[in-house]
Amino acid sequence: MKNWMQFLVLVTSISSAGTLLASGGFGEGGEGGEGRGKQMPTVTNVKWAAECASCHMLYHPGLLPEKSWNKVMAGLDKHFGENASLDAATQAEITRFLALNSADKSDNRRSSRISQSIATNAAPLRITETRYFTAKHDEVSAATFKRKSIGSASNCMACHKGAEKGDFSESQIKIPR
Ligand code: HEC
Ligand code: HEC
Repeated sequence: MKNWMQFLVLVTSISSAGTLLASGGFGEGGEGGEGRGKQMPTVTNVKWAAECASCHMLYHPGLLPEKSWNKVMAGLDKHFGENASLDAATQAEITRFLALNSADKSDNRRSSRISQSIATNAAPLRITETRYFTAKHDEVSAATFKRKSIGSASNCMACHKGAEKGDFSESQIKIPR
């Protein structure tokens, strides 16, 4: 398992180095170590994909730290006004999967930045409430997020077609009309 993870990290760093060169986008760069990938690695779990994408897109585990996922998973009976409860075994498996690949466990620059943007004593339930998110989207207006083709800021997929795979690269961003 460990070797496989290292392999994934290696592959993502090589391919994202390519992306960086191609787009000339060194703006992200600098701190954070040379060998680490920029995009989040693509991860999957059958139960997570089945249970967490019926009402909205799949939010990549690398978008929130473990403490946030634990809180999301502990409160599924009152999940943003919905009852998203699961049986105990499924809940435990998905919680483990999210924790293992969470922003503070995933070795890529975006996840590290997200973690760093959250205060030590905070555990936000929403990615869209993190400082990282608001800083990255300060040029997107509230009216844009409300477009029919988008719905809300929480619908990452509308603008980042690689979102479920953890790909938020600039070359993949397209804001629908
Ligand atoms: C019964 C429907 C339903 C299911 C099933 C569901 N969710 Fe949600 N989820 C919601 C709603 C509604 C929101 C709020 C959406 C909004 O404000 O636009 C939400 C929001 C979220 C957000 C916050 C997104 C943001 O704004 O940053 C996260 C994270 C999340 N869900 C994770 C999960 C996970 C993990 C699972 C699987 C265990 C799950 N959800 C299953 C209905 C659901
Ligand atoms: C209305 C379209 C839209 C939606 C919806 C949206 N984004 Fe973005 N996102 C953008 C734009 C535009 C940028 C800024 C690109 C730039 O200035 O380089 C951006 C930037 C980003 C970046 C940084 C990319 C980089 O290379 O610097 C990340 C990460 C990101 N978004 C994640 C998310 C996540 C996670 C969600 C959902 C919770 C989301 N976005 C929802 C349009 C959107």
